[in-house]
Amino acid sequence: MTTPKPRILCVDDEPANLKLLEAFLVPRGYEVIKAENGTEALKRISEQNADLVLLDVMMPGMNGFEVCKRIKEDERFRNIPIVMITALRSKEDRIRAIEAGAEDFISKPFDQGEVLARIKVLLEVKDLNDRLNYAYANINDMMYFGEEIIKRFDPLNFDFISKIDSIMDMIIRKNTDAIERPAIILVGLTDERNKWIWYKYEAALGTLNRSSVRSDVSGVLDLHGGDSAKIVFSNADDPEKPEYYPFTKELESMGIAVSNKVCYLSKDLCIITLNYGRDVTKYDAAVLNSLVIQGVFLKSIAGQIRETEDAFAYTVHALARAAEVNDEDTGNHILRVGEYCALISKQLGMSEKFINIIRLQSQMHDVGKIHISPEILKKPGKLTAEEFEMVKKHPEYGTKILGDHVRFTLARTIAIAHHERWDGSGYPFGLKEEQIPIEGRILNIVDVYDALRNKRVYKPAFDHETTYRIITEGDGRTMPHHFDPHLLKAFRDTASQFEEIYERMKG
Ligand code: C2E
Ligand code: SIN
Ligand code: SIN
Ligand code: FE
Repeated sequence: MTTPKPRILCVDDEPANLKLLEAFLVPRGYEVIKAENGTEALKRISEQNADLVLLDVMMPGMNGFEVCKRIKEDERFRNIPIVMITALRSKEDRIRAIEAGAEDFISKPFDQGEVLARIKVLLEVKDLNDRLNYAYANINDMMYFGEEIIKRFDPLNFDFISKIDSIMDMIIRKNTDAIERPAIILVGLTDERNKWIWYKYEAALGTLNRSSVRSDVSGVLDLHGGDSAKIVFSNADDPEKPEYYPFTKELESMGIAVSNKVCYLSKDLCIITLNYGRDVTKYDAAVLNSLVIQGVFLKSIAGQIRETEDAFAYTVHALARAAEVNDEDTGNHILRVGEYCALISKQLGMSEKFINIIRLQSQMHDVGKIHISPEILKKPGKLTAEEFEMVKKHPEYGTKILGDHVRFTLARTIAIAHHERWDGSGYPFGLKEEQIPIEGRILNIVDVYDALRNKRVYKPAFDHETTYRIITEGDGRTMPHHFDPHLLKAFRDTASQFEEIYERMKG
């Protein structure tokens, strides 16, 4: 791709004058387009665009001042310099030209050297202006993309490839103007075994298509080895960058003709944006670089957050297990309780966040039992009233162990409230109905279900049907009015899944 010649729109009602302008501009490397009146000039400029306008003032119909004003009023053409050429020399005319927005003013008959000098300067100014606008647009893009990426950042559900998808979607479709974007993007990622996987992105019919690329272009990367990532860009006629030509050849062997490209190359991620509708510049490289760095940064944060979350979950589980040492063997009781909680919370329409937190933190509901003597907990028979009074302290012991960390808010509420009953007959406070936090009401019903299903030293295991009957019809010790009617309904509606969870996770 070569830099196009500057295009000058010459507007004059005298064909002879137009010929004259053409005759001396074309040999000097300018492309000339012509218009014989104002209407035609406006048509030409919107169809063919122009880098500069030479505009006659005295024309039949729309005069030059009017044409100038119309061009300057249009957002798209405002930055195209306009030089008014006129036989008039009056001060008023100069003022009118300036008011209409013209950049410069030349008197007829004009001196060719003077015209060329002014054209040159104005084109340089326009070029600088264009670059400034372009850089500004790119900075805007980067900020916009960055904001979008961060807004949608969810570290616990972070999926790098879908993050890449949305970045590619933004790059390919950021502008409706095809010349401002690449036609194709190739993305290479390394898998767990350090093998490269390549994807090709193309915009088609308003959607972004991602397809796998079979041919292996990774070999070429070794040529550019080294640990640090690099970003390079090249246009087809950039002879100063021969080191990236092999890459172009590889792409061509895959059936992809390359006219220009920007490459982000690193040892585990490569992004190659190809075939912009114009020459690529360091600004395109900067945009790509900034996006990739944000993606990689978020990936790393997501990885670290996930590790911390895993460690947190592990610790929660370990603490819950530790509390079981004095109890008889309850097997996977705490894990099943977590699953029933998730199931019934989902049935109640709770948020995914709540479901995930309750699944984990419900495991600690009985953590206070660590302070209850094993003689009581492992007693084969029925507890005495004094012994049961001791047991009834485990909710409060639990909250003491869990402390006041904000991450344990739900666990603490569960520990204190899981033996309260809807009718107010529970402990430790005898709270009633809605006074009992919902997470306590949830725990209460799922805890009873699992305690009934399991063998305890003081009781045999009951099958699902018996357990279902005890909860929904009562057995004297446990009664339906102990439970929140909404939860009782949710339990009835999901009872088969309670059974399924117990069977799957027993032992
Ligand atoms: P857990 O064994 O985990 O039982 C939790 C809850 O399930 C009990 O809370 C109770 O509401 C229900 N549940 C357990 N087994 C039965 C049963 O056979 N029939 C009926 N209808 N419901 C049952 P609760 O009563 O507040 O007991 C709290 C904890 O106190 C129990 O936790 C257990 O560790 C201990 N515990 C309760 N009763 C006895 C007992 O008779 N002997 C012994 N050794 N421990 C007991
Ligand atoms: C968590 O994220 O696991 C707990 C935070 C909370 O209790 O709100
Ligand atoms: C009580 O009701 O306080 C003790 C026995 C039972 O769980 O019903
Ligand atoms: Fe308990």
